[in-house]
Amino acid sequence: MNHEPLTDQLDRPCKDLRISVTNRCQFRCRYCLPAEHVDVMRAQSAPENNLSFEEITASVAAFAAIGVTKVRLTGGEPLLRKNLKHLIRDIKAIDGIEDIALTTNGALLPPVLDDLIAAGLDRITISLDAIDDDLFKEITGTKHTAKEILDVIELCNQSSIKQVKINTVVQKGVNEHQVLPILDHFRNSRVVVRFIEFMDVGNINKWQEAKVLPSAEVLKIIEKHADFESKTPTSKGEVAKRYGFSDGSGEFGMISSISQPFCSDCNRARLSSDGQVFTCLFTAQGHDLKPLLNQPKELNDFVKDIWQQRDDQYSAQRHNETKTQLPKIEMFVMGG
Ligand code: GTP
Ligand code: 5AD
Ligand code: SF4
Ligand code: SF4
Repeated sequence: MNHEPLTDQLDRPCKDLRISVTNRCQFRCRYCLPAEHVDVMRAQSAPENNLSFEEITASVAAFAAIGVTKVRLTGGEPLLRKNLKHLIRDIKAIDGIEDIALTTNGALLPPVLDDLIAAGLDRITISLDAIDDDLFKEITGTKHTAKEILDVIELCNQSSIKQVKINTVVQKGVNEHQVLPILDHFRNSRVVVRFIEFMDVGNINKWQEAKVLPSAEVLKIIEKHADFESKTPTSKGEVAKRYGFSDGSGEFGMISSISQPFCSDCNRARLSSDGQVFTCLFTAQGHDLKPLLNQPKELNDFVKDIWQQRDDQYSAQRHNETKTQLPKIEMFVMGG
């Protein structure tokens, strides 16, 4: 297949497709799916609306044809979908797809980890916002303990998966005191922690700017504790700024969507579990692929058209008056 390089209105290629395989999640993180809003998830997550694995694979093929090389499976919690290994194997077989990653809360990973790797999973990202058990339970709204998830991360570390990353959303007044314990826990291992600024995704997480701890402040916390240097980006479109400890004991990253938006290089498309394509995390409307999933030529043209017309740069324009007034899409629908 000839992968035609294609760019959007702002000259950005489409390299990375993030697929939410289900809206459902068994966690109730307050910044994503607060327990009091679980009806929003239930209303939007009828399993019969989920694309089948065949339909997801057909969608990925259309994106591969416009230049996508990386796929990330997310949710909700992607491991709530059974037999994800079959989907991974089928996506990996698509011409042009070089890399498949998974974003998960980790709780359901141990029994399936080896199968997912055998099927072709390259990289795993696990969410972990606190190492303190009480705080972990409070943030995630579950009975799972931080210790349990730390054990899962260690299992990944010991496995043959190519890369293990941690997503830590930092909320001011909630978990900034966890920055150093989390960092120290993974120092001298290959596990890379990324601290993420709390973002105004969706409508139900009670986001306020006052709850954002800018990455510069997180770096100040780390500076008092350890020497580090910034590293050169490995690729264009990387969302995290990377830093390496001066003593060689590992690296960490900062994802600063609020304080330092990275829209100018954004090469990501998102596919929801019911077949909507979103061209930005903050967009209010998707493009429905479902009617075209059995028509490869029409599907390819539609996907090409969606990308060519794209001009999103929400984070860069966050403070503009002109931003959309429509309700945004929730993170558990859009996929992290
Ligand atoms: P790879 O490039 O596949 O290694 O992933 P990554 O390092 O970009 O990390 P990941 O995809 O896990 O993204 C981490 C977090 O960054 C997400 O959970 C979001 O919170 C945030 N993020 C990712 N992509 C975007 C984006 O396009 N825009 C914004 N504003 N935030 C993003
Ligand atoms: N702000 C920043 N990151 C978020 N995530 C979910 N909601 C938010 C938010 N409001 C991230 C979590 C999780 C990933 C799927 O999305 O870190 O790891
Ligand atoms: Fe579930 Fe992830 Fe959202 Fe937490 S952040 S509720 S683990 S989808
Ligand atoms: Fe991309 Fe939208 Fe995030 Fe900007 S705000 S980096 S355009 S997803």
